[in-house]
Amino acid sequence: MDRPGAVIHREIYGQFAEQLGRGIDEGLWVGENSSIPNVHGFRKDVVDALKAIHVPVIRWPGGCFADEYHWRDGIGPRDKRAVRPNHSWGGEEHNAVGTHEFMDFAELVGAQTYLAANMGTGSPREMSDWLEYVTGDGQTDLARERRANGRDKPWQIAYLGIGNESWGCGGNMRGAYYADQYRQYATFARTMSGPALRKVASGANADDYAWTEAVMAGAASQIDAYGVHYYTLPTGDWKHKGSAVAFDENAWIATLKAALRMDELVSRHSAIMDKYDPAKRIALAVDEWGTWYDTEPGDSALYQQNSLRDAMVAAITLDIFHAHAERVRMANIAQMVNVLQAMILTSKGRMVLTPTYHVFDLYQVFQGATSLPVEVRAGEYAHGGARVPGLFVTAARGTDGAVHVALVNPDPEHALRVAVALPGMKVGKVSGRVLTAPAINTINSFERPDAVKPVGFDGAKIGGDGVLAVSLPAKAIVTLELR
Ligand code: AHR
Repeated sequence: MDRPGAVIHREIYGQFAEQLGRGIDEGLWVGENSSIPNVHGFRKDVVDALKAIHVPVIRWPGGCFADEYHWRDGIGPRDKRAVRPNHSWGGEEHNAVGTHEFMDFAELVGAQTYLAANMGTGSPREMSDWLEYVTGDGQTDLARERRANGRDKPWQIAYLGIGNESWGCGGNMRGAYYADQYRQYATFARTMSGPALRKVASGANADDYAWTEAVMAGAASQIDAYGVHYYTLPTGDWKHKGSAVAFDENAWIATLKAALRMDELVSRHSAIMDKYDPAKRIALAVDEWGTWYDTEPGDSALYQQNSLRDAMVAAITLDIFHAHAERVRMANIAQMVNVLQAMILTSKGRMVLTPTYHVFDLYQVFQGATSLPVEVRAGEYAHGGARVPGLFVTAARGTDGAVHVALVNPDPEHALRVAVALPGMKVGKVSGRVLTAPAINTINSFERPDAVKPVGFDGAKIGGDGVLAVSLPAKAIVTLELR
């Protein structure tokens, strides 16, 4: 309590919304004429749910899609917009949600914007025109064109990604070549109004440390944030990733173990960044993370259900980001609605909040909080030859003045008795919430939307010695507020 650490940047609770599957069309956007209640075409139920968890930043339009996106396709009268093939994810892109719609959506939700610029099939000029169109506050042609299209005031752009996965779908480049390209684009990446633009370099695929080395060596001085992408697969095999719902305890522990790899990835990329940026000016932005399972036949692209296992992955990943708060200053879970580890699933007029959403809700007290050091002494949870730590803990002093502690018990069978000592703090009052479910693969379906939902927790008692005794149920995430 008396040795506070780094501030946990709100932006690590960021999200990613790509033009693919039913992520944006149907998931967010239904159009003004829909019978589904909407605000300027965006689903009201979804907007309200996102507002409730205070999404700090949204990345758009991709992903792989960003490197084939031409912003002019998405402005002007909607019935005249270009229809293009979506080469990355299949189907056709009708561009109903373009710049105006996305920027308005971010304003509705109250989130900052993270635009991903097209390096793969675009040009520095296309990118700089886009920035001028969005942020121009004078009388330039592009600012006037924006006004003619219905938006008087410039919008604000907080982050600009320059290329996406440029080692793969974004152009299949080599690191040193990307670094040179980045320098060129970054030179012309200028906004005309609003906050200083933070430029995000397309970073490594998981453990590609050579990419980080090359990009840092070539372009560190022009980078404000460096992205890393890492997806959690139960099997580690991209051809057979495994099912989102039909899984056993072997897959449960394998998934948690795979998620824990984030700690090593962040540590090792940070160590390379430290060489070029010892003052930690450059943020590490894990701008794509989450679980990735096999899509079921008949489902839209990258649609997957979300179970208690996903809630566990979310909690322990956010714990890792908290532990690296000095360097990890933005992250974007993939993705917001109906795609990969989504917050929300929709089916026509219906919506469910996923177990992952509930973790983002429980953990929102950590946004902007000051992390506190934790020392954990616990055994392991082992199953079928795999083992992971038996307890995960994160703690921080919130902007509300309270101390918040999150405890995760990954063991599906055994409850834990945990003693929480808080040196330097006299706890007068403790309250809590718990997220668990009857089975490791319990989901929230449209028929049973509240099967996994946080409830009040009364299993924490303050002892005479000031030590907190917590009865942590099996396979549970508990958050405690201490005052
Ligand atoms: O999030 C889905 C895809 O995963 C993104 O488009 C791409 O950047 C990554 O490979």
